[in-house]
Amino acid sequence: MATPLTLLSRNPTFHAHHHPRLHKHFTSRPSFSPLNFAKMAASEISEQVAAGKDLSLKKKIFVAGATGSTGKRIVEQLLAKGFSVKAGVRDLDKAKTTLSSSNPSLQIVKADVTEGSDKLAQAIGDDSEAVVCATGFRPGWDLLAPWKVDNFGTVNLVEACRKRNVNRFVLISSILVNGAAMGQLLNPAYIFLNVFGLTLVAKLQAEKYIRKSGINYTIIRPGGLRNDPPTGNVVMEPEDTLSEGSISRDQVAEVAVEALVYPEASYKVVEIVSRPDAPKRSYHDLFSSIRQR
Ligand SMILES: NC(=O)c1ccc[n+]([C@@H]2O[C@H](COP(=O)([O-])OP(=O)(O)OC[C@H]3O[C@@H](n4cnc5c(N)ncnc54)[C@H](OP(=O)(O)O)[C@@H]3O)[C@@H](O)[C@H]2O)c1
Repeated sequence: MATPLTLLSRNPTFHAHHHPRLHKHFTSRPSFSPLNFAKMAASEISEQVAAGKDLSLKKKIFVAGATGSTGKRIVEQLLAKGFSVKAGVRDLDKAKTTLSSSNPSLQIVKADVTEGSDKLAQAIGDDSEAVVCATGFRPGWDLLAPWKVDNFGTVNLVEACRKRNVNRFVLISSILVNGAAMGQLLNPAYIFLNVFGLTLVAKLQAEKYIRKSGINYTIIRPGGLRNDPPTGNVVMEPEDTLSEGSISRDQVAEVAVEALVYPEASYKVVEIVSRPDAPKRSYHDLFSSIRQR
């Protein structure tokens, strides 16, 4: 189903327009600690690198909203990179058709983010190292859906992480969430999206909660989402910078996965669009260029 921002990404006013790393930045599990890493013999490390093995790749990532257009791409890309995935979905039957359920590294579990943090903690289990949230309310008759899903649902997920000692959280948010503070109150995209139950305001509230929670977060704010393959390179900017532009969902998924790989993505808010004329930059470069605030 087309979401408001998909519609906007088709609107000209909205369009202005691996390599693996050795040590990863999950801090909740001893196996990831720099200490353990330091204990590894140099030969052991170089052998693994030479063999093309990423030391993070056996980790299990919980993806909320895994049957969504971006969520399913995140699942696919995580699996392709060697992660194990626990796909949190509302509808198990839908998941069987949307996701490649025959992959032994993929586990599908029921997870409705509006049902509270206890149920979500059960779904996340004790074997997930990080949570990626790719949920977004589905337009319908429930006018409170954006608040229930994009604000409280995400807050519930963070609370569930606390209960499970999961200390890594990647959120797919949106550019313009802080449009009011950016002086973008009259931006058609800002107005349009907030007509749908204050969607951007709901997302901003969730972002604030995450940032205060102490969890190691990366908040990814994409421009208008497109289903077509990438046509340009990723442009990454600090928070409250971009007010227009669009990006392929494939690239958004890639940024979410790379955020789990690069420690430079920790505790950061990144805004992303793609532009054909932008130079191709490594994810190390892109994440490093954004300052923590
Ligand atoms: N569309 C745009 O142009 C645009 C631009 C910037 C940012 N964004 C944001 O980017 C994110 C991904 O967008 P998208 O268009 O790829 O998403 P999407 O296809 O609309 O998928 C949304 C996902 O959220 C799930 N969901 C909805 N309510 C839920 C609940 N109560 N509990 C658990 N899951 C729930 C849906 O489950 P079902 O599959 O069961 O329905 C679906 O998997 C969203 O947060 C969106 O707001 C979108």
